[in-house]
Order: sequence, then structure tokens, then C-alpha cells
Amino acid sequence: MAAHVISELSQPSPLTSALPTVETLTSKDARLEIDPASYSALYNNTPFSFQHNLHKLDLFQFESICDLADRYTGASPNDYFVTGSSPKADAAFFDTEQIVLKPVEAIRKLDEKPTRILLKRPENYDVRFRDLMNGLIQQLRALPGGLGNQPIRRIQSSIFITSAAATTALHFDPEVAFFTQIEGDKDYHAYPPDQVTEEELETFYSRGRVSIGQLDMSKLNPDQDHFFPLKAGVGFHQPQNSPHWVQTRAVRSISYSLVYETALDKQIGLTRAFNYFERKVGLHPAAPTKNPQLDGLKARAIVPVRFGLKVAHKLRHG
Ligand SMILES: [Fe+2]
Repeated sequence: MAAHVISELSQPSPLTSALPTVETLTSKDARLEIDPASYSALYNNTPFSFQHNLHKLDLFQFESICDLADRYTGASPNDYFVTGSSPKADAAFFDTEQIVLKPVEAIRKLDEKPTRILLKRPENYDVRFRDLMNGLIQQLRALPGGLGNQPIRRIQSSIFITSAAATTALHFDPEVAFFTQIEGDKDYHAYPPDQVTEEELETFYSRGRVSIGQLDMSKLNPDQDHFFPLKAGVGFHQPQNSPHWVQTRAVRSISYSLVYETALDKQIGLTRAFNYFERKVGLHPAAPTKNPQLDGLKARAIVPVRFGLKVAHKLRHG
């Protein structure tokens, strides 16, 4: 593994006694230092922390991040968010001030007020991020258990640039995440996905949209709050559907997240969508994974049903 390399020749010659050089790390040098036992036991059911070296990569140096943000200037609004802080951790997720600035403008004004900038899918703007994403997935696949060789249906990365003292309200996301802190401090509170009820998950997946899930903080068990005081070089694994909320501290924060949904994760979501309609007619469906064969049948059956409902809705409402 490449690292910051300092020349340690015991007898420096006039030719080699120049100041030690620091090697620049690139995407191919990125490493996640994940404990295999934690990964095998906790993957996609309990958040756990790990170390990494992504903060040392060339593509995460601040000037490089600014160059990247500049490339989003003419991008689709779907590719980035610029928004204010949530008023509190248990606020409605979208109850924030929308800031009408391009990402690169918002970065320059980061000190003026609490601001959150999300650059989505940087791998579409700089090939180094695609190389990074592919390299990290290879590392995860090489670990025993967990992702293994499961097919991935949807994958993307994101960069979060956040001013000091900004809050992201409680929510969950329909994807597995490996979250890494690049710069500054971030207090991250994550709960295991079993804190979300089957009924809440069924309602969410019945909509068939990739979005965030809104939750009520008072229904979560505070003993299940896994607190990660993140700083550069520290990351954590966030299972799919894990409730979480986040706060930055006294300085600017930069984070990088890799998220994906496997074919099995996708099937479980579709099974939950089917279960939503079963429950609507008074049945009590079993939670997914109890009967994989039945899960598969439900997942296949719900696709045309949901398509039909969408068509009917469009016909009714235009
Ligand atoms: Fe999230």
C-alpha cells in the first residue's frame, strides 16, 4: 500500500539528503481498514466504524474539491443540493431553507451561514471518482461475508461539503452505505435498521421511489444510538434503512459516501411493497427473508401491480 513516504536512508548522500518528499496518493491507493470479524457479523444489520486513508487522496484535497464543484455549474439540478441547516435533529427532513447558489458559489460562502452542499455522482464528472468507487467495491467483495459476489443493481457516490454547526435531520436511506470523513469533525448518530417498523418500511417501499424515509425520533430506542464522532481517517458502515442524523461541529466538514443496492436488497424492497398491499386488505404478512421463495414471488408480482397503479393515478390526475 502506498502511503506518505519519507526517505529513511541511514547515510544520506549529498544527492539524497534533499527534504523528504511526500508521495501523492491517488484513487488506486485508497484503502478501507475494516475489521473482517465486524464486517462478517455486522454487515447490513448494525453500524460499525473503520479506518481509511481517503482523506490523503489527491482528489479530496480542497482545491480539487473546488474544481470538481465548478464542473457542476451547468449540471442538472438533480445532480446536487445546496440547502441550509435543519432547525433540529427531529425536524422534518425537507424543512430547510433552499439556497439558490451553484455548488462552487456556495463553497465560497460556506462561512457566511450554515450550508450543506451535496455533490451527487462525482464519478460522472471526474473519472478518478469512478476508479475510487470500483476499487472500494473490490475491497469489500474480497472480505469474507457481507457483500461477497452479490450483484449490485444501483451504485453511486456522494460528496458532502458542510459548514460548521449544521444539522441534517433524522431519516433513513434505501441503500447500504460506507461513509468516510475527509476533513473536519462530524457527529454521526446511526441506529440499526430494526428500529424502523415493518409497517414504516412497507409504506416507504410501496412508493417505489429512491428517496429518504422520514421517521419520528421519539419512536427510536435511545440505547440503540450508535454515535460516531467522525474525523479525517475515520468512517463507518451504515446498513440499508438505518435511521441517522448528523451534526457538524466548529469547522467545515467534507465527507465521502459510497452507497449501493444489491439485487437482494432490491427484492426485499419489492417484497415489502407487496406486503404493504397485503396489510391494507387486513392480512398480516411475514417480514421479508423468512421465506425467500415466497419473497421472490411477491417481488415479481408487485412490479406490474405498481405500474398499473401509477398509470391509473396518471389517468385520474393527469
Ligand atoms: Fe442519509
